[in-house]
Amino acid sequence: MTYNSINMKRIYIEEVSQYKNEKVEIRGWVYNKRSSGKVRFLLVRDGTGIIQATIFSPEKDHPLFQLFDNLTQESAVIVRGQVKEDPRAPGGYEIAVNDLETVHIAQNYPITPKEHSVPFLMEHRHLWLRSRKQHAILQIRWEIIRAIRDFFDGLGFRLIDAPILTPSACEGTTTLFETEYFDQKAYLSQSGQLYMEAAAMAFGKVYCFGPTFRAEKSKTRRHLIEFWMVEPEVAFATLEDIILLAEDLILFILERVLTKRRAELEILERDPGPLEKIAKPFIRLTYEQTVKKLQQMGSKMLYGDDFGAPEETLLSQLYDQPVCITHFPAQIKAFYMQPDENNPEVVLGVDVMAPEGYGEIIGGGQRIHDLSLLEKRIEEFNLPREAYEWYLDLRRYGSVPHAGFGLGLERTVAWICKLKHIREAIPFPRLLYRIYP
Ligand code: 4AD
Ligand code: MG
Repeated sequence: MTYNSINMKRIYIEEVSQYKNEKVEIRGWVYNKRSSGKVRFLLVRDGTGIIQATIFSPEKDHPLFQLFDNLTQESAVIVRGQVKEDPRAPGGYEIAVNDLETVHIAQNYPITPKEHSVPFLMEHRHLWLRSRKQHAILQIRWEIIRAIRDFFDGLGFRLIDAPILTPSACEGTTTLFETEYFDQKAYLSQSGQLYMEAAAMAFGKVYCFGPTFRAEKSKTRRHLIEFWMVEPEVAFATLEDIILLAEDLILFILERVLTKRRAELEILERDPGPLEKIAKPFIRLTYEQTVKKLQQMGSKMLYGDDFGAPEETLLSQLYDQPVCITHFPAQIKAFYMQPDENNPEVVLGVDVMAPEGYGEIIGGGQRIHDLSLLEKRIEEFNLPREAYEWYLDLRRYGSVPHAGFGLGLERTVAWICKLKHIREAIPFPRLLYRIYP
């Protein structure tokens, strides 16, 4: 069978407004259907949108009505007909059907318009992607990915890909995924940062954007085992420089989604108000100031503790802007963080907390550029020095202050879409007890 038809332009639903009154062909799946007297309404989705296809006939047993009656939810169809503008139709246009072709009659589709439990939907994630809200989330995810690339490319950053199989840890040894690498041990990358530091010394300003892995044993609404991270790294840059970069990146992403993906935000019933309010400069607090504020609000956290979900919720009650927290105690941050020259007990790291209780979306900071200090830290953190020899080389040959950060894509998607759980922010989530489908 070929799908090339004569005299009929095959179009996608998102293009329909360009074909007013023309005869077109749409290929898709049955989203829903209903009938009323002499009319049959077929809601067809093709991946770019949903359109109403209307079959009209005074004859009760018109052949198209028979075809229509056999169609089940998610059956594959080809619809041919004229594009009509109709303010009553969802989306403002409909197809007046002349011809309907059945490609496949779907079996009983497991996801019906009624409510389903989350475990059931996760088990059927490969089908759940077709549902309106899931589809809208992933459209926004795609838009955010494009915005991120446009942002960095526009600033002259070079995209340099980091490896996924690595011989060493970046973000601590407790969340490493170990695998065999012939006769050696290897780990799935937790972060491309160390490689971006090498790349920054070769290309000046760089970024990588790829999947990263953490064997997180905690089951929370903001942790995935496999997630995507964009990681810029800049030579001759300080903590302050990359905070400014992070602010601009977030504003660029928001602006893009708010202009190009309003329809999707609406499908998700996401009020754009709180996103529209976000402006530079973001709130700046040191770790110490933050702990004091949270303690005043009743938090039991002590100086030296990491922020947990309750602290992130409290913070968002104080501010409706992102909060940049800096100057963390060295012992709660990674080995590579540059100490503050005024107080070497704290490091020049930054976490950016999203508003509305979404917590940390960015982690980064200034890196140690002094060879002997870095050697000392590797020893203090009990890291195997051989695996970091190449990284130490960067401090032997033209070492400069440099800084960068990682923005978690799914955390950002979850915040912008206001999702209850991060699992819906990625097409096929990898969770503590889930690797299927
Ligand atoms: O704060 P993290 O661990 O920082 C780094 O990995 C640095 N090496 C990045 C850099 O400076 N180049 O992770 C960065 C971000 C977090 O702020 C969060 O948004 C996201 O990655 N993230 C996760 N997202 C989902 N699930 C998880 N388990 C995540 N762990 C971190
Ligand atoms: Mg972090």
